[in-house]
Amino acid sequence: MKILVINGPNINMLGVREPEIYGNQNYETLLCDIEQWAYELNCEVECFQSNHEGVIVDKIQQAYSEIDGIVINPAAYTHTSIAILDALKAVGLPTVEVHISDVTKREDFRQISYTGMACEEHIIGKGLEGYHLAMQYLCEKYK
Ligand code: DQA
Repeated sequence: MKILVINGPNINMLGVREPEIYGNQNYETLLCDIEQWAYELNCEVECFQSNHEGVIVDKIQQAYSEIDGIVINPAAYTHTSIAILDALKAVGLPTVEVHISDVTKREDFRQISYTGMACEEHIIGKGLEGYHLAMQYLCEKYK
């Protein structure tokens, strides 16, 4: 089982970026946590972060036939990107969308998730533990 974890714009700024919303833990620590969770779940993991929509589309396309499941936090692209939605639909891989913050309680413009329309599970507002829950979901499904 190989999982691809994709993070969108500004997720690499964790720890610096609005800590009252996203917490104090930085992106490098998140990567370490994800490695540890993959070890515990006995799966392979690859982490990828980009601030660029088209680069994220390229990465999703490359996942086709190489990856068994995707965990994605598209960040701001969640609310705008039909291109990422279409890429997820194109590859048809089981995908879980993660949001660190509880977007349901935030601004109106965060209430639509285009990318979420291609995701079979959504983990929202659970902090960085959300990535763990998403990985658990995919591993459970793959059994
Ligand atoms: C986010 C929520 C998005 O609305 C925001 O643009 C982000 C992070 C989250 O993880 O809570 O960059 O995806």
